[in-house]
Amino acid sequence: MIKKAVIPAAGLGTRFLPATKASPKEMLPIIDTPTIQYVVQEAVDSGIEDILIISGRGKRAIEDHFDRNFELEQRIKEKEDETYNEIMNLSSLANIYFIRQKEINGLGDAIMYARQHTGNEPFAVLLGDTIVDSVIPVTQQLMDIYEQYKSTVIAVEEVPRDKVSRYGIVGGEELSDKLMRLNQLIEKPAVETSPSNLAIAGRYILTPGIYKALEKTPKGKGNELQLTDALIELLKTESIYSKTFEGKRYDIGNKLDFIKTTIEFALKRKEFSSDVLAFMKEIIRDYEKAN
Ligand code: G1P
Repeated sequence: MIKKAVIPAAGLGTRFLPATKASPKEMLPIIDTPTIQYVVQEAVDSGIEDILIISGRGKRAIEDHFDRNFELEQRIKEKEDETYNEIMNLSSLANIYFIRQKEINGLGDAIMYARQHTGNEPFAVLLGDTIVDSVIPVTQQLMDIYEQYKSTVIAVEEVPRDKVSRYGIVGGEELSDKLMRLNQLIEKPAVETSPSNLAIAGRYILTPGIYKALEKTPKGKGNELQLTDALIELLKTESIYSKTFEGKRYDIGNKLDFIKTTIEFALKRKEFSSDVLAFMKEIIRDYEKAN
């Protein structure tokens, strides 16, 4: 059983400036909930008990968010409503630990910081700026494959071919409809050299073998230690599987996707859906009249 998860959240958020100059991108809220809270909730819903967040400079707000805030608790206590319960719940969702990545040296380097924490156990990795809406949490979907093969499993999704250079891309042998045994991984390939349009989607189950592989991996794209490159190294000694997950992925790290996610999530919330829809219809009508 996989009980530990690692959430890398040390990135500078350069795609979301100026909002991320002094605030972590993982704290950008979708409606009223910071992105990283959705990610932590996914881990907890998948049975994870112990979460290590790899943070960095300027990320203290994440620590405070999962800590208690007695003054606030006192203030909202009388109401004992849903908000109060949610706030009280936040600090006891899981055992949450923090470690700081000293320099921004890539996702592979961030994972290296988890070595002592995860030891000889397999663990889940959930990228802190990606949320997935699904019936079964994606991490749980990967765990189910892990239980079958006891090997590394990566969540992938189809992306348009002209977008492959934004992602890690995989190729391999199809075992069943949504499952592949990989023989190729490549970080941000050019369209012409891409083995497929199946993109690494920000959720992984890794075996402890990843640490030795990371040690052997030189710096790659962007002069950073890439997790994808270490997975290529791991492939020499272990099998790696990919699962085309069920669900919808939202990349909160870029502005357009953030806007879309906010609208979509507002439409999913009972208390907002009809008002937001009416407002959208109204502004589209006005916009079309004016243009
Ligand atoms: C990282 C990974 C990449 C993956 C992507 C998913 O890239 O290196 O393989 O496809 O996350 O979001 P980044 O977006 O940090 O550049």
